[in-house]
Amino acid sequence: MKTKLFICLFVLALLPVLSPAQEKVAGEQLTYKLPAPNLKGTVSVEETMATRRSQRKFLNDGVTIENISQILWAAYGITKPLDFPQTRGGFRTAPSAGALYPLEIYLLVGNINGLEPGVYKYDAKNHSIVRVIAKDVKKELAVASYNQKMIEAAPACLFYSAVYSRMTKKYGERGRERYVCMDLGHSAQNVYLQAEALHLGTCAIGAFVDATVKAIMQLPEEEEPLYMMPIGKY
Ligand SMILES: Cc1cc2nc3c(=O)[nH]c(=O)nc-3n(C[C@H](O)[C@H](O)[C@H](O)COP(=O)(O)O)c2cc1C
Repeated sequence: MKTKLFICLFVLALLPVLSPAQEKVAGEQLTYKLPAPNLKGTVSVEETMATRRSQRKFLNDGVTIENISQILWAAYGITKPLDFPQTRGGFRTAPSAGALYPLEIYLLVGNINGLEPGVYKYDAKNHSIVRVIAKDVKKELAVASYNQKMIEAAPACLFYSAVYSRMTKKYGERGRERYVCMDLGHSAQNVYLQAEALHLGTCAIGAFVDATVKAIMQLPEEEEPLYMMPIGKY
């Protein structure tokens, strides 16, 4: 009887660690498998377009792992897996010139219940996030963005960078000057509309000091920073 009680208590204590939304994968890099996205929302796409506005004042809490999973999926989730290596997993929620997908998306976590603070990279193929920096750098990024305090205040923030060579290899200068930012716009608009459907807000932020931001984010040489999109209740 005592043993059964002990086992029950042990399993109960483990539940938060083992829930699918918070599955921590052991290893050097902290990885969270995100819950599957919901494909049947309750707010129409027309409503999201009619009510969407850039929001700049956020509460510091109230964003869940489910919200984060949904927003990352809307941004660049895989909707049709393919074997072509150039697509790095398959067709996505957002269109891309030549299906070359030049964007990388990071998640800056400040205050999300169940996620350790830090900088995570979105792995679309596995719909998971992998921590690449073990501290919240939102405050530093806010300073490097001409003191746009919303970056620091929001509990989470998406961060976009691009590997231009993925586009220029095929499209040359046209890829650099046009297609990368066109791709970014498609993905970021998905984020705006998905956030709105979840009754959350965001704001596209393009004004920052590139070199400082690149250093704070410890981006690989080939990646250039493009956008930040704080996410929060407002
Ligand atoms: C390329 C781009 C860069 C932007 N950068 C900033 C920014 O750095 N800070 C900010 O507060 N808003 C920024 N915005 C948001 C615009 O100010 C906003 O979209 C515009 O005022 C229209 O308002 P709405 O989005 O609510 O319709 C940016 C928008 C775009 C498209």
